[in-house]
Amino acid sequence: MVKLLILNGPNLNLLGNRLPEIYGALTLKQLQQQLAQYVQTHHPQFTLTCLQANCEGALIDALQAARLDCAGVVFNPAAYTHYSYALRDAIEAIAIPVVEVHLTDIDQREDFRSISVVREVCAAHFQGRGLQSYTDAIDYLAERKPS
Ligand code: DQA
Repeated sequence: MVKLLILNGPNLNLLGNRLPEIYGALTLKQLQQQLAQYVQTHHPQFTLTCLQANCEGALIDALQAARLDCAGVVFNPAAYTHYSYALRDAIEAIAIPVVEVHLTDIDQREDFRSISVVREVCAAHFQGRGLQSYTDAIDYLAERKPS
């Protein structure tokens, strides 16, 4: 079995309640369950570990731990996307591919959201497609040739 980490950053634990007109009605738990189902159907070689943290340090710890036993990470860094050089360095420091995802299209919102300081060190990015941003990232990791 090949392990993938689905990592979600700050405030994504509030999905379903937080600005549903922007982020949708799915709760984090439902999103994680739907991803597990997607993987079972389309990429049964993968097993998912899902983590959410509000703290930058916990996200860094999760990325560092993932390098030991995961083939890749699907990462929504949430607001940290826009300014966390610590997360950028963590992504750059680990050898496994990290795919940046966003539920919303961060280029079509407030100006500050159109800056991603992690993009350059991520293997790919998918945004603006809700749950499908995550499944696109999983498809990408499934198709990617090992480097
Ligand atoms: C987000 C976009 C970020 O700008 C925001 O801070 C989030 C969620 C998204 O998934 O669309 O918390 O990453």
